[in-house]
Amino acid sequence: MENRSNGLEQFILTSLEVMAGLFILAIGAATLAALFIYVKDRSQTVSTVRRNFPLIGRFRYLFEELGEFFRQYFFSMDREEMPFNRAQRSWAYRAAKKVDVTVAFGSTKDLRPEGTILFVNSAFPTLDKDAVTPPPLIIGPYCKNPYEAHSIFNISGMSYGALSKPAILALSQGAKSACCWMNTGEGGLSPAHLEGGSDIVFQVGTAKYGVRDKNGNLSNEKLRKIASYPQVKMFELKLSQGAKPGKGGILPAIKVTKEIAEIRGIPAGEASISPNRHPEISNIHELLDMVNHIRDVTCKPTGFKTVISGDDWLEALCEEILKRGIESAPDFITVDGSDGGTGAAPMPLMDDVGLPLIESLPILVDLLARYNLNERIKVIASGKLITPDKVAWALAMGADFVVSARGFMFALGCIQAMQCNKNSCPTGITTHNPELQHGLVPAKKSVRVANYQKKVEYGVGLIAHSCGVAEPRELKREHARMVVGPGKSIPLNELYPPVN
Ligand SMILES: Cc1cc2nc3c(=O)[nH]c(=O)nc-3n(C[C@H](O)[C@H](O)[C@H](O)COP(=O)(O)O)c2cc1C
Repeated sequence: MENRSNGLEQFILTSLEVMAGLFILAIGAATLAALFIYVKDRSQTVSTVRRNFPLIGRFRYLFEELGEFFRQYFFSMDREEMPFNRAQRSWAYRAAKKVDVTVAFGSTKDLRPEGTILFVNSAFPTLDKDAVTPPPLIIGPYCKNPYEAHSIFNISGMSYGALSKPAILALSQGAKSACCWMNTGEGGLSPAHLEGGSDIVFQVGTAKYGVRDKNGNLSNEKLRKIASYPQVKMFELKLSQGAKPGKGGILPAIKVTKEIAEIRGIPAGEASISPNRHPEISNIHELLDMVNHIRDVTCKPTGFKTVISGDDWLEALCEEILKRGIESAPDFITVDGSDGGTGAAPMPLMDDVGLPLIESLPILVDLLARYNLNERIKVIASGKLITPDKVAWALAMGADFVVSARGFMFALGCIQAMQCNKNSCPTGITTHNPELQHGLVPAKKSVRVANYQKKVEYGVGLIAHSCGVAEPRELKREHARMVVGPGKSIPLNELYPPVN
């Protein structure tokens, strides 16, 4: 018995000695490594911070990187983050999860800054029994296959490439169940788009991905093939997007997988950079020619997407449309605000070029009205319209539809990690790394996509009914005011008098 306990004591003592030895060894190795890094930092000539503060200077990079993640949890106030603050994001998350979206005690939104929109509640709001579901709108009445669009709020263009396969599948399934459309973005049509079963708007980007021939020109044969899918309801010619007006799509080489390369019609493993504009469209005549060409070939409604800063070219376009006849008009124009999102863009374009939607939407709506083309050409608005108040504002200003990209990314679980260009998206949405995609289960996330879509439309309905109208598209400019100074707001119909 005594022998056995001596043996145990001996074993414990030896283990402790080994552990102490290992510990001393580890400290020694760490000290040596630290010394090595210290000397390396001190003697290098590239980084001033590391040269002046060897070793500890390196923590700066670590904290900078971690700060991006932790700021949103610990330091930022509910309403101060960009591009979307915590209040907006949590509304989208909660709507997507179909949990309670009511708030208690009082609003945390500062209602004082100039430009804040306030809706005008009616003394006699609409009773539930008098509320109506917005009727479908027809897009492309002169086209062989007009599109009867049922939803006000739809999914904006995000390419397969910028987004992962499970993300595309979840969006497509979600859009199908919410009865809204999904835009392919400029990366072509993938099997996942079709598998989900939603209505699809096919985007023709400046590189014509998915509809290009060997030389990169538009292929009628491929256009016809895409149009032959009954799910594909419309075609959108992309002139520009808000986050990078005047710059084509950028897909880093790491994201150009074999499958993506095949769908786009480009080599795998090479960065995919599309031209700054369609090489064959350099004026409004060629723009109208191209819109009509695509519509003639596909027999489906065709429009274009653009960022608007000045209206000269749009005036010229409207005049040309009236000259050619209103059948020649684009069936819709998607106006993207300069504060739109992207998978990757140069900062000077993202920050400094183009008008935000708050300014460009009224420019477009009023111009179309001046030329009496507002019935013919439907207006689709996008740019940070991810909550009901924003969507309601766009409708009141005269938009017919709203599309969102990042709102639906939040519904998919995006945490605004701002890594869309790095293939390291922690939520599997904008990465082709299978391990990171593993967390995104389309069957679950598609339900959230549909919940979010429906909750946004429901919320727009709440605003409409509070303003005393029967459905969201009856919202007009007189139903909202803009704060213009301390204690002063002006009705939108005075700030932007409607043209007709
Ligand atoms: C990841 C990502 C990819 C995008 N890809 C495209 C694209 O291929 N084509 C396009 O026209 N716009 C693209 N966009 C822009 C969106 O369609 C949309 O116009 C813009 O983000 C504004 O909407 P939002 O504020 O609701 O995100 C992309 C946006 C994101 C976030």
